[in-house]
Amino acid sequence: MMNKKFLEMNNDEIKTALSSGSITVCVIGIGRIGLPTALSFANLGIPTIGLDINSKLVESINSGIYPLKDEPEYDVIFEKVIKEKKFFATTNIEESVSKSDIVLLSLPTPMDQNNVPDYSALRSVGSQLSEYLQEGSVVIVESTIEPGFVENELISLIQGSKSRLTAEKDFGIGVCPETANPGEIMIDFTKLPRLVAGINKKISELIYEIYNFVFPVELIRMPNCKTANAVKLTTNVFRDINIAFVNELALLFEQLGIDTMTVLKAAQSKYNFQVHYPGAGVGGPCLPVNSYQLLNSAKSLGNENMLNIIKASRKVNESMPDHVINLLQNVFLKSNKELTNATIMILGISYKPNVKDIQLTPAEPIIEKLKDLGVKIKIFDPYYKNEKIFDIVIENELYDNLSECDGLIIITNHDEFSSLNLNLLSSTMKFPILIDSRGLIEKESAQKAGLIFRGLGQ
Ligand SMILES: NC(=O)c1ccc[n+]([C@@H]2O[C@H](COP(=O)([O-])OP(=O)(O)OC[C@H]3O[C@@H](n4cnc5c(N)ncnc54)[C@H](O)[C@@H]3O)[C@@H](O)[C@H]2O)c1
Repeated sequence: MMNKKFLEMNNDEIKTALSSGSITVCVIGIGRIGLPTALSFANLGIPTIGLDINSKLVESINSGIYPLKDEPEYDVIFEKVIKEKKFFATTNIEESVSKSDIVLLSLPTPMDQNNVPDYSALRSVGSQLSEYLQEGSVVIVESTIEPGFVENELISLIQGSKSRLTAEKDFGIGVCPETANPGEIMIDFTKLPRLVAGINKKISELIYEIYNFVFPVELIRMPNCKTANAVKLTTNVFRDINIAFVNELALLFEQLGIDTMTVLKAAQSKYNFQVHYPGAGVGGPCLPVNSYQLLNSAKSLGNENMLNIIKASRKVNESMPDHVINLLQNVFLKSNKELTNATIMILGISYKPNVKDIQLTPAEPIIEKLKDLGVKIKIFDPYYKNEKIFDIVIENELYDNLSECDGLIIITNHDEFSSLNLNLLSSTMKFPILIDSRGLIEKESAQKAGLIFRGLGQ
């Protein structure tokens, strides 16, 4: 902690404090987003503490094991900052927060079984901050939250029932919603513009200075926290809706005998067309949740009939796993084969390409439905080896495991699957059915190799 309260510093004092490493940063939630964030601060020589409730994660970080194997380049920074003692992890909130001038919240904001946004991690930490936050410090929420969550809920949680600290006077609070893409966080942290906002102009400027010092990206000042959070949700919900649109087109074009990927490629010749791609479903910690967050915002105001386009889009995107099953059932029917007791290999379980992440992956409902149909399932995903996922032991090798397979389904477009050896698949599989839900494989090439091929949207 500095002698002078961080909240009271002017811009020059903030820069000096950051560059001399005389302030301490605590990042709460050191997962996919929080750990690279913490490492970015520590890499500049700023003493940084990572706080997490996952004691196994904390232990392994402190013993020098870098956990994010699919976020390259941070491993080098991780080793450096651990060696320089600029970063360590802990589960002790009192010890870490009471020492810190800047507290970043990178906590998860998932949803429950009924698609209701779950802010329990932020609520729990917010209440604990009411006990441990130091006077003069600044709290910055990077998690994706509904517009108004900071203003209407988090501030009063941190102030607590005893009102030990008062926002603006005793502590600062604001937001800088994270927009990085898993697997590309190093690139995004150096390229993607970020939005900053505080609960007043002074705090907003202070947060601006912090991010300006650490991240070499354009920073956009937002008039308040709720507007910044609204922008974050708008960009992601835009994608969810547009993916639903191309998914519906794909379903129609399949019946019209039109290749959706050819349409989408040519459509990009129109300057104002922004391409999105159809697929087995939309997963991950962001897009589906963010749509339900906006719906929840409307619901909280009693406006359940608003945002119908988001509801319809969710319905379409959530129905895509069923469509993949339909494609498989159809091709089995046409081949006079029984699906029950057949062996199907799932290619890719991550919700998006080239990352190890199965949060809300469409692979899960597809696997569950196949189990219900009595199908024997194998899984190959280059990001998951020697692991048991969805109660299935993942295969470490693809081609060695094909002789028992009656079909393959590509669910994730990992780069590895673009260069599948179609001839080897066809000659090795017990029955050569290939379903491609991601537009990776050309129908002609698959058929030429002797595969019985169905492509989503083809
Ligand atoms: N992953 C992404 O692609 C991405 C991109 C942009 C924004 N976001 C948003 O960033 C936020 C964090 O997402 P993430 O992907 O890093 O999540 P994550 O699940 O990878 O990491 C969250 C971490 O918080 C820890 N945690 C949970 N409850 C805690 C508590 N009470 N106290 C301390 N630690 C706790 C967990 O153990 C975990 O390590 C979410 O709001 C998410 O929507 C995520």
